[in-house]
Amino acid sequence: MVENFAALAARIAQLKKEKDVVILAHYYTTPEVQAVADFLGDSLALSVKAKDIESKIILFAGVHFMAETAKVLSPDKKVLIPNPEAGCSLAESCDAEDFAAFKAQYPNHTVVSYVNTTVGVKALTDICCTSSNALKVVESIPAEQPIIFAPDRNLGGYIKKLTGRDNMVLWDGACHVHEEFSLEKILELKKEYPQAKIVVHPECKAVVAAVADYVGSTAGILDFCGTSEVSEFIVVTEAGILAEMRRKYPEKSFIPAPPIDSTCGCNECRYMKMVTLQSILSCLENESPEIVMDEQTRKAAERSIVNMIAIK
Ligand code: 13P
Ligand code: SF4
Repeated sequence: MVENFAALAARIAQLKKEKDVVILAHYYTTPEVQAVADFLGDSLALSVKAKDIESKIILFAGVHFMAETAKVLSPDKKVLIPNPEAGCSLAESCDAEDFAAFKAQYPNHTVVSYVNTTVGVKALTDICCTSSNALKVVESIPAEQPIIFAPDRNLGGYIKKLTGRDNMVLWDGACHVHEEFSLEKILELKKEYPQAKIVVHPECKAVVAAVADYVGSTAGILDFCGTSEVSEFIVVTEAGILAEMRRKYPEKSFIPAPPIDSTCGCNECRYMKMVTLQSILSCLENESPEIVMDEQTRKAAERSIVNMIAIK
């Protein structure tokens, strides 16, 4: 297994060099995939990074909407995705045609969309956001201006609560991983580890976020655990983040929160885990699958991401 990893990683490194490729990976990918990445980050950090890449080719080790975002921002680069089947239940919960019809019901609203959307939905969006900057993005819009927030109802509801804005209309979408965490099981864990701080991603349900010591994006959670004086954390987000937590803070302990059904493994994003070392290698060898999109949609989507990056 280790030998296999070493051989695959060496071949990937060689092809990366020969073909001038940079590999971007999200924290939710497997530890092996994270190990061959040039940059590891949350959605916001990876979007910002994708804009400034100098290499000829970007290989996105993550889900489809992330690679699409990289292509929108770097149209002259070849953007590769190791497994184009790696989708996202949240992005899929918001079809562009349905969203256009929804938007038509709310004229004069500013559209804020989470980056976890297809390029078609981004083209209908005024400003994108990620879980790192959603509050900042919403606060950048005058208080009297009504907003459509899509597609995550939990992140939207959380921001609505923080800002007290009742002029925010929410799209009814959710992430299959973050919605599965069980409040009961988190509270049982807290009894077992009374000193532990509970850290929660805002894609989780409001009842779960309500018991958190900290609510934030994957990068926010990492920072919180690093700066906190406490050394035990109950982690309520996708379990891939634990690899980076243990690498960064080996002296601290991280307890993954189980999903409602502890046998289902659904505190893991099945889409992120579709990216494997074998698929990365074959993608580098063939320079395919590649992200392609029509220029009109790309340009329309670009505005929403550039507007977000200007706010950060
Ligand atoms: P962040 O990377 O913004 O924390 O989002 C998590 C996520 O679900 C990515 O798909
Ligand atoms: Fe999408 Fe959820 Fe997977 Fe993130 S964890 S990629 S939001 S399905």
